Amino acid sequence: MKKKVALITGISGQDGSYLAELLLKKNYVVHGVIRKSSSFNTGRIDHIYVDPHNKTNFYLHYGDLTDSNSVYNIINNIKPDEIYNLGAQSHVGVSFDNPEYTAEVSGIGTLRILEAIRFLKIKKIKFYQASTSELFGETYNKNIFNENSKFHPKSPYGVAKLYSFWITSVYRESYGIFASNGILFNHESPRRGETFVTRKITRFLTRKILGSKDILYLGNLNAKRDWGHAADYVEMQWRILQQKKPEDFVVATGNAYSVKQFIETCAKVLKIKIIWQGKGINERAYFINNNKKELLIKVDKRYFRPNEVHYLKGDARKAFKKLRFKPKFNFKDLVEDMIKHDLELARSEL
Ligand code: NAP
Ligand code: GDD
Repeated sequence: MKKKVALITGISGQDGSYLAELLLKKNYVVHGVIRKSSSFNTGRIDHIYVDPHNKTNFYLHYGDLTDSNSVYNIINNIKPDEIYNLGAQSHVGVSFDNPEYTAEVSGIGTLRILEAIRFLKIKKIKFYQASTSELFGETYNKNIFNENSKFHPKSPYGVAKLYSFWITSVYRESYGIFASNGILFNHESPRRGETFVTRKITRFLTRKILGSKDILYLGNLNAKRDWGHAADYVEMQWRILQQKKPEDFVVATGNAYSVKQFIETCAKVLKIKIIWQGKGINERAYFINNNKKELLIKVDKRYFRPNEVHYLKGDARKAFKKLRFKPKFNFKDLVEDMIKHDLELARSEL
């Protein structure tokens, strides 16, 4: 049987690397788009690339979502069955500093792919758009979001992704392209970028218990997120494209925890005692070790955003039913997985 061919933008990112592994296991030929960078940016996929089993089913191409020609040429050369658009400037905080670039990559980048599909008239292509819970932004009356909830993005990233969400829907309705949005809530893993809050915390705490003298500076400790595991969520990305008809799905766990609760769960897993003192900008966490109190975490307003999404919790009942979504990792499993990995990493750095 002819193997299915998938193209992944953002293959060097957290989700891209898990999705590539999943599709290879499912016997796909996987092509990925990587950016030219002055330093190595393929750390998450090097193990796939060097594996001799993947010699004839894993290919990387230089391209960029800001470059229409590269997008068009890659799609034209590969003629994939499925395209997963995971590429993005994905950091909400950074999007306030680079709003125009964020719009180009995370917004218009999606249009560039859809336009290539339309021009090339490759009917078989199924398109997945990495949409996000940042589209919701504001909690109105209800504290849980589903596919029918109102959008109110609160960052340049959220607005860029809102464009992508709607242009995906418009190309589906106007041109009959199989194009679906996965509206994914936060998902983390040992491969999470180190500037996102969960990984920033697990990297810091695991170094700390091995003797680091550093202090961690964080922003809003009270923000709540619905945190799942990326390995579970890429399975849903694939399932969304295996549906008979294209449609949009919320993917979430249905539980929300604060940044502070994330820290406390890490402390439990690491069996360390921390105490909190002070309020607001003066809030601090201390590490209690042999009855000695050592400063661990300080709030730093440099990490506050000009506008904040305070609370995100998803209602994924549609995905539970139609995609048979059954996450393997709960919140504690996720924390344990990240801590275990980062503890080993910290030991290897000693
Ligand atoms: P990530 O780790 O930040 O990966 C982003 C990927 O996009 C990287 O491979 C990056 O390449 C690539 N990229 C950045 N700029 C690009 C450009 N101009 N052209 C082509 N590729 C570019 O993000 P992630 O956590 O895996 O998330 C995957 C997707 O899901 C993103 O679109 C994100 O916005 C969305 N999403 C994520 C979450 C989440 O909680 N993780 C939730 C909802 C939606 P480099 O490696 O070269 O930087
Ligand atoms: N990054 C970061 N760094 N966030 C911090 C910090 C800090 O030092 N201190 C507190 N926070 C708070 C942020 O203000 C936010 O409320 C929360 O922690 C989570 O921040 P991030 O981990 O940066 O993730 P995000 O929720 O803003 O965005 C992620 O999830 C979205 C889905 O809801 C990204 O993966 C987006 O790409 C994704 O769309």
